[in-house]
Amino acid sequence: MDYSPYQSVSKVRIFDTTLRDGEQTPGVSLTADNKVEIAKSLDRLGVDVIEAGFPVVSEGEYDAVKRINKLGLSSQITALSRVDKADIDKLIDCDISYGHLFIATSDLHLQYKLKISREKALESEIAGIEYAKAHGIKVEFSAEDATRTERDFLVKAFREAERVGAERINVPDTVGTSTPERFAELIRYLKSQIRIPISVHCHDDYGLAVANSLAGVNAGADQAHVTINGLGERAGNASLEEFVMAASRLYSIECRIKTKLLYETSRTVSKLTRVLLQPNKAIVGENAFGHESGIHTHGVLNMPATYEPMEPELVGASRRIQAGKHAGTHGVYSQLKSLGFNLTSDELKKVVQKVKEIGDQGKPVTDSDLDRLAREISGLAKRDSYFKITDLAIITGINTVPTASVRLAFGNNDSTTTAQTGVGPVDAVLKAISQVTDRYAKVTLREYRIEAVSGGTDAEAEVLVKVEDDRGNVCSASAAGQDIVMASVYAMMSGINETMLRRSRQDGNQEIVRPAQTIAAMTS
Ligand code: KIV
Ligand code: ZN
Repeated sequence: MDYSPYQSVSKVRIFDTTLRDGEQTPGVSLTADNKVEIAKSLDRLGVDVIEAGFPVVSEGEYDAVKRINKLGLSSQITALSRVDKADIDKLIDCDISYGHLFIATSDLHLQYKLKISREKALESEIAGIEYAKAHGIKVEFSAEDATRTERDFLVKAFREAERVGAERINVPDTVGTSTPERFAELIRYLKSQIRIPISVHCHDDYGLAVANSLAGVNAGADQAHVTINGLGERAGNASLEEFVMAASRLYSIECRIKTKLLYETSRTVSKLTRVLLQPNKAIVGENAFGHESGIHTHGVLNMPATYEPMEPELVGASRRIQAGKHAGTHGVYSQLKSLGFNLTSDELKKVVQKVKEIGDQGKPVTDSDLDRLAREISGLAKRDSYFKITDLAIITGINTVPTASVRLAFGNNDSTTTAQTGVGPVDAVLKAISQVTDRYAKVTLREYRIEAVSGGTDAEAEVLVKVEDDRGNVCSASAAGQDIVMASVYAMMSGINETMLRRSRQDGNQEIVRPAQTIAAMTS
């Protein structure tokens, strides 16, 4: 389906700053190894430029930039530097051939942060660019806080950059205060004043970063600074995945990004930065292609375009139908079918009824709940688990590193014992379980929630987990009990077993769901 009202701009370059502005997200700090791994996935994704970091900030950052620059990736590597000699020397030491140099230009920043005059700022800018150029570095010059800079002075700063040889200018909306109309007008004006190419760099403080970036590109900028998952200072930067998909699908502006790798890249960045994605995040959030309400699931199952503006596969994601209080028979039927059940319409109605009852109690309906309900209602035997926990011991206390030792049985004959330490008993035991199960399928814990169902020290707790495997299968499971460690273990085991079942079905194995009678016949 083509939604594009514009045809004027046809291409945009993607400058990814996940490893620089993205890493400036409060609380995020990546090791050099993490940064190298992310740089490689950005390169596979097809970004034009990777801003690898800000070398002057620490030794580790300097090493990471140096290593990334030496990887021989197809993406061009850049790094950030103030217009100061000491910063630029770090770029030179890292052998960076394309430097991102900046100085603030708004009176607010000059007066209260840098405490220098406009003239002094221009002097430093010129000296910095000239120094970098003299060392063979191509320069992209950013006027920090450009959108709050007095217009004539901003033009002057950019003209000077052009005059002394900068290859490109960047227009940052540093605290996200611009609007699409104002930003487009600014870019159009700069375009009429400056001959070198223009980048845009928008922050999301008012939720307008992607809209402003698109407006800037439609007004003549040919490169957008973006980050995976919209990571960045405060509310973040324009999100790469949202910008790329909106540019291509809504404005017919193309770029080199292999969109099928968006979901996977987003997960890699989320895992390494430890910043969880909000479920309703556009394009890559868990609910971006999730449906619960009966009307929506019915529509999507008949014709995906009714409630899906793009095919999930296009971004490497998959559709997810969620059972819950709003669910209808079509959605529950399709979910059960994907779990391997073929229920009669009476049985199906009963499952839907139970699903709604759980929803009315304010609880989510997990995949393992659905499996259990379908079995109870249709009289099928309890499913065989892939993994069973047969022994478990945990030590924790003061001056003791929490340690868990578990014995897991896989199928009938294979069984393994392993031990792991963790920050607490739950962490230790879940790590020990994963150490064994990872040999069969890489399943990662995506979400862990614990709720007290009743009060007191003997309260019943409910643990809800969401796990995801390396094929992108997301399974939810829960378990309740007075022992929160054991409830966590059972929830995790249930999530992993559910995932194994799904993988087995995807591999064409239909043997897992066995009617009770068959099992009775086998054991008699
Ligand atoms: O937001 C900003 O102004 C920046 C500059 C360093 C380009 O990140
Ligand atoms: Zn920024």
